[in-house]
Amino acid sequence: LPKFSFDKARVSKDASVKRVLTDALNKNQYLKRLELQQIKDMVECMYERTYQQGEYVIKQGEPGNHLFVLADGKLDVFQHNKLLTSIAVWTTFGELAILYNSTRTASVRAVNKVKVWVLDREVFQNIMRRTAETRHEQY
Ligand code: CMP
Repeated sequence: LPKFSFDKARVSKDASVKRVLTDALNKNQYLKRLELQQIKDMVECMYERTYQQGEYVIKQGEPGNHLFVLADGKLDVFQHNKLLTSIAVWTTFGELAILYNSTRTASVRAVNKVKVWVLDREVFQNIMRRTAETRHEQY
């Protein structure tokens, strides 16, 4: 029987991929405060997705159901159709709506064909919950 509710979301991946995903999550200013085990669990549960040129990965104002790490290609960030910046490879994005239960603060669009690693919101929340339960068991 799976020990944790997110065990079924685990996706096997190469050690080298896990390393770059761990680094990408840890360099995010909000996620770097999480525990090592939480980051490890997040990496274990991420899965790959591709987006074609011109596709929206995120639309401003919509609810957020995923957190992403860019693995390949180029993404532009827009607010109200104004270009703000581009996202560099091995950067985390889409974390704000997941962490703060808010709607998306900006739109993110694929400039060319893009590969991302994705973590579902529900899995993220279960990972946060698991650590709280494990800690509670120690007392
Ligand atoms: P989120 O609000 O969930 O969805 C849109 C994402 O775009 C947001 O999380 C950040 O990851 C990213 N983002 C928002 N504003 C900026 C910005 N000014 N520069 C770079 N990235 C941004």
